[in-house]
Amino acid sequence: MFITFEGGEGAGKSIQASLLKDFFISSGIDAILTREPGGTLFAEEIRKTLLTGEPEKIPPLTEALMYLAARADHWERRIKPALNAGKVVISDRFHDSSIVYQGFCKGVDINVLNTVYSSITNDNMPDRTYLIDIEPEIGLARSLARNNSETRFEKMDISFHRKVREAFLDLSRKYADRYLVLDGSLPISEVQKLIRADLSDFLRSS
Ligand code: TMP
Repeated sequence: MFITFEGGEGAGKSIQASLLKDFFISSGIDAILTREPGGTLFAEEIRKTLLTGEPEKIPPLTEALMYLAARADHWERRIKPALNAGKVVISDRFHDSSIVYQGFCKGVDINVLNTVYSSITNDNMPDRTYLIDIEPEIGLARSLARNNSETRFEKMDISFHRKVREAFLDLSRKYADRYLVLDGSLPISEVQKLIRADLSDFLRSS
């Protein structure tokens, strides 16, 4: 099973992904937690370049190709082998982030993004995607309070982050069969409970 978490800055994806992984492990199910951009040595190097510095450091198409390059390595060396070994793979962000950030919000041709994605993954899609939705103002404040150097996207205008939120919500309606939208302002344990309930429904019906 392949599960992804999506959302804007500071929505609380990472903590939910990590709690879910712990839940699988404590239930005796082999699961890995990974992230994008990143997840392999090479992709983590690309991550540093993508997430640090000024917003205009990398033009949109170049940026999109770097995310896809990182994704190709991540898919080939980490995700595909784990899925083939029967593990549950949980990824903190995946291709939907490219559609939203580089496609909808920075104007890169979505057909280009999807064509490259298809040849990386042979059109494999996540089984479930959890969108943690939060007011951009609240998310950004949380994210900036973390005090790390990965702030290239946080430095974008608030209007950019509002667009990100709307684009994710649009995507969740387009792919309603694999998406569940969760309110990121709820307590962490509440959100986690909803995710586990959804997964148990999903497993029962598949
Ligand atoms: P995060 O993992 O801390 O959320 O940071 C990742 C940042 O990278 C976030 O601002 C979203 C952005 N991103 C893209 O723009 N495109 C992508 O394809 C991915 C995976 C992330």
